[in-house]
Amino acid sequence: MNSIRVHDRSFTPYISKEEIDGLVDAIARRINKDFAGMELTVLVVLKGAFVFAADLIRRINIPVSVEVLRVSSYGSGMMSSGTVVIDDSLVDVGERHIMIIEDIIDTGTTLVQLIKQLGGMNPASVTVTALLSKPSKHHQELHVDYVGKEIPADFVVGYGMDYAGYGRNLDSIWVVTEEEE
Ligand code: IMP
Ligand code: MG
Repeated sequence: MNSIRVHDRSFTPYISKEEIDGLVDAIARRINKDFAGMELTVLVVLKGAFVFAADLIRRINIPVSVEVLRVSSYGSGMMSSGTVVIDDSLVDVGERHIMIIEDIIDTGTTLVQLIKQLGGMNPASVTVTALLSKPSKHHQELHVDYVGKEIPADFVVGYGMDYAGYGRNLDSIWVVTEEEE
């Protein structure tokens, strides 16, 4: 089986470039339909979502403005640290239709915190888009408006997502293999 090394672990193919393309196309089609005639402000959650966001916004055909936000919840490994640090101060989202763009939703902690902070700023609406989501790991009931694909509780890298800071540059998505220590 085709396998690659990222930092100190091995990964095997999980979601191909072609499948990713199809997932992004499908999300963009829904957004263009649902937001026809409106304007959207997307909030790209860095670093992981930058690759997905770059592909997604180029398929959006309504007026869109882009804001980025740096959030860290994962430590250096594969376990979420549980603490969410929002590094930038949020732009003024008042009266705007805000769409949070995430690469992958794991426990949902990042999202819940972010939505809470946005809610206090009186946006016209807040929606969430994620390429991937792991429902079995969500800590609480989450409403994700647009999801590319739901996956099991697997750890993945590529297409913006990292393991210990590496692997974001891979153009397809790979899953970690269990290995003996
Ligand atoms: P949450 O707050 O637990 O939902 O974690 C969300 C963030 O952790 C995502 O935005 C990703 O940046 C990162 N993350 C979650 N699962 C994975 C994964 O399988 N691989 C790489 N990063 C992940
Ligand atoms: Mg992220």
